[in-house]
Amino acid sequence: MALMAWGTYLETGHPEMDRQHQRLVELINQLYLAPTPQGDQPTELLVDFLDFVERHFQWEEALMEQLHYQDLEQHRSNHNLKRLDLTRLGRLYRTGANGSIGDWMVSMHDWFISQILQEDRGLAAFLLKLEAEHPSLTPN
Ligand SMILES: [Fe+2]
Ligand SMILES: [Fe+2]
Repeated sequence: MALMAWGTYLETGHPEMDRQHQRLVELINQLYLAPTPQGDQPTELLVDFLDFVERHFQWEEALMEQLHYQDLEQHRSNHNLKRLDLTRLGRLYRTGANGSIGDWMVSMHDWFISQILQEDRGLAAFLLKLEAEHPSLTPN
């Protein structure tokens, strides 16, 4: 059974942000359901996941910087904490501690929901307001 289900409870109302979050949910579920990897190399799926999370963080941070978002520093420091955690996930693979990956994905799921509900929704509301006022201002 999948770990997370995409639904309105996770939507921010910002189409591009929701598209990226939906993709993250898919990748979290795929990793959670993937068979225990053999060997010490990160799987292609893990690499895709880490890559997508980083690109998503950078997308949000670039918008916050460009648009002088007031909660930029707090939002970025929350991303940075998760970046450290993601490094830990890579290490779990390299050290062969694959048994803990399922637990780690559960904590990722909890973090992801609270991050969306608390910080990303605030950013989405800010972006939507700006886009309504200045349609050409915010790139995707
Ligand atoms: Fe975020
Ligand atoms: Fe996000």
